[in-house]
Amino acid sequence: MKKEKIILTGDRPTGKLHIGHYVGSLRRRVELQNSGLYDKIFIFEADGQALTDNIDNPEKVRQNVIEVALDYLAVGLDPAKSTIFIQSQIPELCELTFYYMDMVTVSRLQRNPTVKTEIQMRNFETSIPVGFFTYPISQAADITAFKATTVPAGEDQEPMLEQAREIVRRFNHIYGDTLVEPEILLPDNAACLRLPGTDGKTKMSKSLGNCIYLSDSADEVEKKVKSMYTDPTHIKVSDPGKLEGNTVFTYLDAFCKPEHFGRYLPDYASLDELKAHYTRGGLGDMKVKKFLAAIMQEELDPIRNRRKEFAKDIPAVYDMLKKGCETARETAARTLDEVRRAMKINYFDDDALIAEQAKRFAEE
Ligand code: TRP
Repeated sequence: MKKEKIILTGDRPTGKLHIGHYVGSLRRRVELQNSGLYDKIFIFEADGQALTDNIDNPEKVRQNVIEVALDYLAVGLDPAKSTIFIQSQIPELCELTFYYMDMVTVSRLQRNPTVKTEIQMRNFETSIPVGFFTYPISQAADITAFKATTVPAGEDQEPMLEQAREIVRRFNHIYGDTLVEPEILLPDNAACLRLPGTDGKTKMSKSLGNCIYLSDSADEVEKKVKSMYTDPTHIKVSDPGKLEGNTVFTYLDAFCKPEHFGRYLPDYASLDELKAHYTRGGLGDMKVKKFLAAIMQEELDPIRNRRKEFAKDIPAVYDMLKKGCETARETAARTLDEVRRAMKINYFDDDALIAEQAKRFAEE
């Protein structure tokens, strides 16, 4: 049988999704979904993972589950083509995690660069919740329960995929070929790998207040683009400007397509030409920001409008999630069955085992 191509990816529902999520992963997911190249697509909300550092604030996760579901539908994820589900509703994932925990050492987890950074970011120092510390293992369960071959995600997820592959190799080595090694699918555009916040800080984060959300109104988007960080030494229009670290240009790299010039800035033929003029001097920040705002509105308008439409029937969105959970659970349960059989912990449907033990005791 030809190996199936299966996509799985997800997000922690700790906030509404922003354009960093969009260019880093969501936009690509929709393209992949509509490409017809994949046999199955699973998109999920990692609410269990979100709780690993929000256990005292479950309401935040609860509120954001529906926000993220709306963001998914708004960008064009389609429950007819993709199974959209919620992690905590799939108990099989916990069981898989339980077994995988025996295949990973504490020192291996301590070396995970993403976990290291996150521990620093959260000032956890020594008071790390065990569940947080071990979330790479639970993430390996998320991925392998669905036999995912392809995980579209940002660069920061690379260490998680490496951990998942190690578990798969170890499992298959001990118990025979059962699990599938996943691969990450990174954005192909460098600007999309890690879109900076509007203040030019490395990451878009809710607490820094530097995000543009998919649900932001047109006015909010306009305001945020106009106040974006550029080149602080570019003071007069005639001054030469720098592109590195210039958020407006990074965003243009992520959003601008050649056809946008004809529509919004016909004096220039390409982004290279615009950049050359900016570097030379004589091009003001506001003109570039207006261009960026026009492009972003064009991309975000339909998303915002679809979001509003879906928000009119919230019970239908929960129903969609519930159906997704049912489908996802069937798949995860099938994998878990194979895992139990491979590990020989399927005592009650192993007739050979029962017969063998009966014989052993009869001979004693
Ligand atoms: N760790 C991911 C994030 O923070 C979310 C996630 C959980 C995930 N399980 C996953 C992503 C499995 C891809 C595959 O965004």
